[in-house]
Amino acid sequence: MSDFLNRWQVPQGKTSTDAPRTFEHRWSTYYQAVEGRPPRDTLLFALDRFDIENQSSPRSTVGFAVDLGCGDGRDTVELLRRRWRVLAIDGNAEAIARLRQRSDLDRRYLEMRVQRFEALTLPPNVDLINASFCLPFCPTDHFAELWEELGVALRSGGRFCGQLFGDRDSWAPYDDITCHTRQDVEQLLSPFDIEQLDEEEHSGKTALGEEKYWHLFHIVARKH
Ligand SMILES: C[S@@+](CC[C@H](N)C(=O)[O-])C[C@H]1O[C@@H](n2cnc3c(N)ncnc32)[C@H](O)[C@@H]1O
Repeated sequence: MSDFLNRWQVPQGKTSTDAPRTFEHRWSTYYQAVEGRPPRDTLLFALDRFDIENQSSPRSTVGFAVDLGCGDGRDTVELLRRRWRVLAIDGNAEAIARLRQRSDLDRRYLEMRVQRFEALTLPPNVDLINASFCLPFCPTDHFAELWEELGVALRSGGRFCGQLFGDRDSWAPYDDITCHTRQDVEQLLSPFDIEQLDEEEHSGKTALGEEKYWHLFHIVARKH
């Protein structure tokens, strides 16, 4: 079970109309709750795939990664440790401030940016786009444009890894959350070879010990 479940819960019965920007003001609590957590399994899976491919061509940096919705940098730290050059992006200035303050970073190969998904611009020829538990927080009417931007930025043979929320997730009714059916996910991944597509669905508990229903897709995919 993902440790993402160990966080807050949205009050029962709230809808997008009576709870605008439900998540936006809660990120600070989230960063505190998950401080010091290890990198995500989807990232580790993708990095291992690159390691196998790169075995025969040792380089000073392994590749160029975008860590989208990086939070306070649990995945960015691992990418840097494994000699990746990283552009870490988050829409919340506090996330980037927390990342900047970390003492366990090799900053030589790190660039940081505060930018929202709704206005995302990425450089070309990206080897890896890591989006751990963040894309569902892109408003639905901006998701298609965001996904296209990711696809254009990734080089052929580059990888996407991260999570999407399923349509049976209990946060699906919220306006500021984007959820997908399995069919939607498979359609989104049609320009990719799917290396991992794990569906997780169950009741869980938050950090506050409250019940929450989760429906997740864990994805690692290689662009054709
Ligand atoms: C659940 S956290 C995930 C953080 C980290 N990747 C992790 O795995 O713990 C989601 C992150 O996405 C960012 N985020 C949410 N909505 C965003 C948006 N519309 N544009 C940019 N970043 C956003 C939040 O600020 C937050 O840091």
